[in-house]
Amino acid sequence: MTDRARPDPVLRAEAVTKRYGATEALRGVSFSVDRGEILGLVGANGAGKSTLTGILTGSVERTSGRLFLDGKEVSVGHVDEAREHGIEAIVQSVDQALVPELTAARNLTLPALSAGRLGRFPTRRALDDAARRIAGDRIDFDVRTPVRDLDPSQRQRLLIARALSSDPLVLILDEPTASLSIDQQNLLHGELRELARRGTAIIYITHHLGEVVALCDSVLVLRDGAVTARLEAPFTAAEIVAPMLGDLESAVRVRSDSREDAGAASRPEVARERSEVGSAAAVLEVRGVRAWPDAAPSDFTVREGEVVGITGLIGAGKTELLLQLVGASPRVSGHVVWRGREFAPRDTGEAIRAGIGFVPEERFRQGEIPGWSVAATITLPDLRSYAGALGLLSRRRELDAATRVMDALHLVASGPGAAIESLSGGNRQKAIVGRWLAASSELLIFDEPFRGVDIGARADIAAILRRTPCALVASSDPEEILEIADRVLIAANGTLVGEVDPARTTVGELTDLMTKDAAA
Ligand SMILES: Nc1ncnc2c1ncn2[C@@H]1O[C@H](COP(=O)(O)OP(=O)(O)OP(=O)(O)O)[C@@H](O)[C@H]1O
Ligand SMILES: [Mg+2]
Repeated sequence: MTDRARPDPVLRAEAVTKRYGATEALRGVSFSVDRGEILGLVGANGAGKSTLTGILTGSVERTSGRLFLDGKEVSVGHVDEAREHGIEAIVQSVDQALVPELTAARNLTLPALSAGRLGRFPTRRALDDAARRIAGDRIDFDVRTPVRDLDPSQRQRLLIARALSSDPLVLILDEPTASLSIDQQNLLHGELRELARRGTAIIYITHHLGEVVALCDSVLVLRDGAVTARLEAPFTAAEIVAPMLGDLESAVRVRSDSREDAGAASRPEVARERSEVGSAAAVLEVRGVRAWPDAAPSDFTVREGEVVGITGLIGAGKTELLLQLVGASPRVSGHVVWRGREFAPRDTGEAIRAGIGFVPEERFRQGEIPGWSVAATITLPDLRSYAGALGLLSRRRELDAATRVMDALHLVASGPGAAIESLSGGNRQKAIVGRWLAASSELLIFDEPFRGVDIGARADIAAILRRTPCALVASSDPEEILEIADRVLIAANGTLVGEVDPARTTVGELTDLMTKDAAA
């Protein structure tokens, strides 16, 4: 936390509203942030956080309201104007802020180049060197790699490095830690504190209330597009949840706050109705698979009625293992038996036909079709079961199924016909995850299903997992995985290195195991 005097707030918003057709995304939001202040911005999925970010950075046109910088009214009508004023953002849809065909170095140096700070025609080597300077130790990969070949965590770190390099007056971060490891998150928090000490005003958006408690000087809570609270530190996660969820709060039981584990209060408690699965038959048997060719082979099984978790640091190989299981990438080695039969799908379509639902980590790239409605997105995998007598899609049935899923997940949209792009980040994820609720799969394979969804949705998704016949879930968040899994496998360096019983393992113990095995 920063000690600071209080002159004029550096940024002030007055009665900002935003309408999208009938949707009131923001209804008269007023707030201010001071130099050197780290202001948390929280709210459920669809509360209006990214819309507000867009308005402050000139990428979304506000319907009404005024903005002031250092007491002077400014228009911030477009992105360049915001940038000239020193307002920078790390946006939620990371991919929209990067050019996939260009190298990491090119992407990193774009602002410096356009500001003319690297000369008119810098050589490629000069650009690469400048990029390495900007990246510092945040980037452990070759800056000459094209962005399309980077994983979500690497892209996220690229965007953070680029934003921090500009020494902004106001820096807005929209869920910056969604794909970061604990170490990278701590590094970012340290850098933000340093930036704040030098005077930058920081607006920090996250669904991890533990982060807000640990990092922020104050917090602004949005619900349905309106400010419901502004708290000054010290505050607890439980104090933030009440104004955030309102009447939804009763649906989500929140653990009481504790000093050792501030994040715990941000997690809904999911009843563990652990069934007696120890003796149940194995439905999925995996033998000798490897995340990549020089990794050691791994074996594991999923039994009927079981939710198996895979955890490990970012880069441990969880995603690579899951992609091979469902045929989304070529199998490196080994074999898989699914319900008694050898199973080697050539693509995810084959896995779906075999009753396996899959939510990939990179949902925006692998799971969504732009221009489709929410209803079509939800019912996509199972189109045939909605087909009418003549094989035509029954719109009625599609809408009914989609509406059921939207209700179950408290998905916020103007209706089932809304375009998927019009949804907030977390609600888009709910649509992708929710399609497997409609599809009635026999095995759900979810890669990071909780990333970017609010704490209410986390409970909803956990409930879906518990209702499916069996599930395999990867998450690099030890707390989440302990909460939802019957058994937790630990991955490190492309292979499975251990297994723990969530009922007898604490978050701290699991974190130690994850890091110890990675170092080995
Ligand atoms: N381009 C758009 N067209 C129509 N409606 C939109 C558009 N962008 C956002 N909305 C709506 O505005 C509301 C606020 O969305 P916003 O993205 O600001 O939420 P958020 O708080 O960032 O949520 P999340 O936690 O899921 O990222 C939502 O109801 C959303 O559906
Ligand atoms: Mg958002």
